[in-house]
Amino acid sequence: MSADDLFAAALAVRERAYAPYSQYLVGAALRDEQGRIHAGANVENAAYPQSQCAEASAIGVMIAAGGRKITEVVVIADGSLGIPTPCGACRQRLREFTTLDAPVHLAVPAGVIRTMTLGELLPLSFGPEHLGKEAVR
Ligand code: THU
Repeated sequence: MSADDLFAAALAVRERAYAPYSQYLVGAALRDEQGRIHAGANVENAAYPQSQCAEASAIGVMIAAGGRKITEVVVIADGSLGIPTPCGACRQRLREFTTLDAPVHLAVPAGVIRTMTLGELLPLSFGPEHLGKEAVR
């Protein structure tokens, strides 16, 4: 399946990011188990540690809509200082809801520049199954 629709959603939501401190605008778009797209942007705060990543915003939107499984991800930011890539905490956030073989597309406004699986981004990861809970498979 093409990620064009997911890319478009991430590109659009990135424009609405609130990042006055870092100026690093990030958009994230997730496809859920019903094929629906959920998007979110980073939300910064004058008290810096309170800032929220785009992936966390998008996951919150998905959960609010009733989605429980992520099948594909686009993360988009300005690539001038390196490939946009989910921070460590967001890799773990995605791990909760995403299959390890799900594609995570790393993108800049011009398009997707690299695609990796969540398992590649977060090898030997800890997840719900380690607590005896049902994991997203
Ligand atoms: N950021 C994200 O939104 N996602 C990531 O995975 C990496 C970092 C945001 C947080 C902060 O608003 C800005 O990028 C700079 O760290």
